[in-house]
Amino acid sequence: MGAGPSGLLLAHLLQKAGIDSVVIDNKSREDIERTVKAGIVESPAAEVLVKSGVSDPINLEGMKHDGVEFHFDGRAHRFDFQDLVEKSVYVYPQHEVLKDLIAARVRDGVPPLFEHQADAVLDAETDQPRIVGTTSGGEPFEIVADVVVGADGSGSIARTTVCGSQRDGYFREYPFAWFGVLVEAPSTFDELVYSRSENGFVLISTRDKDVQRMYFQCDPLTDAATVSDEQIWDRLQSGVPSTELLRGPIFRKDVLRFRSFVAHELRKGRVFLMGDAAHTVPPTGAKGMNLAISDVLWLNQALRSFFATGSEELMIAYPENALKRIWKAQHFSFWMTSMMHIAPDATEFDNRRGLGELALLTESRYAQQYFAEAYTGWDYGVDDWN
Ligand code: DHB
Repeated sequence: MGAGPSGLLLAHLLQKAGIDSVVIDNKSREDIERTVKAGIVESPAAEVLVKSGVSDPINLEGMKHDGVEFHFDGRAHRFDFQDLVEKSVYVYPQHEVLKDLIAARVRDGVPPLFEHQADAVLDAETDQPRIVGTTSGGEPFEIVADVVVGADGSGSIARTTVCGSQRDGYFREYPFAWFGVLVEAPSTFDELVYSRSENGFVLISTRDKDVQRMYFQCDPLTDAATVSDEQIWDRLQSGVPSTELLRGPIFRKDVLRFRSFVAHELRKGRVFLMGDAAHTVPPTGAKGMNLAISDVLWLNQALRSFFATGSEELMIAYPENALKRIWKAQHFSFWMTSMMHIAPDATEFDNRRGLGELALLTESRYAQQYFAEAYTGWDYGVDDWN
């Protein structure tokens, strides 16, 4: 369930092992390929996408970034990932990853069933779980399978079956959000810039040589349509006062809510959760899709073992295996979020402590390596996935 990165990648990997699947999604292919999401792929994730035959390594090479900059307190610090941990990240926007994954399914003759709305997952604790739903044309459908995987995003239908309710999980909200824009302009910086100043957080990211992605911290209740281009440029520019941002038409504005969430259960019988259906991280550090790929590798290993031998051992172990990285990524996303933002009720003590934390991070090579290792991605630790 869900033609997002995790559902499509799992289907692709299972097929390589001769295991048939069908991917359904309530949205249309056009909507999925148009949705704006984060843009950073860690190096272990990039390796999975290339080695499994989804992504073109030459294309990816052109998206490689060997470092990022932090700006705070009138200072700029570059983290040199190659020097610190001999790794890189890739600015490979999620909708491009999705286009490549959907193209792989179409090429293999098993395109996803778009515009199929799942209404419920039934019979989880039998060996024939099933999905019942309705197509966008109003036709009812039912899919009976050996296994159902809920990769159906943060509003997951499958989570109700696995956990008893959609909201059942460990949960944290934040008193701020991101205002995101897409701008038609050349990039101002060669690498991403994360900034913290009196107004809070600013991120200057990119999509390609003609389109830039930028964010600033805002109130979660902000209505994107009411913020003028001038106000947007003022806020973005205040994060990088020493360099004039190259401007151009803003052609998209959106507000991204922040949430940390981990479902209480990731499996019930033959029904599994992965990706945003299983967990959500706040966007700082762009861990969402990278973390989803870890779930995919663990579940792929478990299902391959089950279909090859009939043993359920690795299926039963899936939650425990996947949760190790889930909680590490939860910590990293929470930490980077807390460090770079200014909460509306922050005291002067909080502000100065925060600057102390940034000074510590940028002045100690050990601390820089800690950050660089997490940002570029820990090894997945799953063998024989391909
Ligand atoms: C982007 C998003 C992030 O959350 C991040 O940390 C870096 C880049 C992006 O959308 O480009």
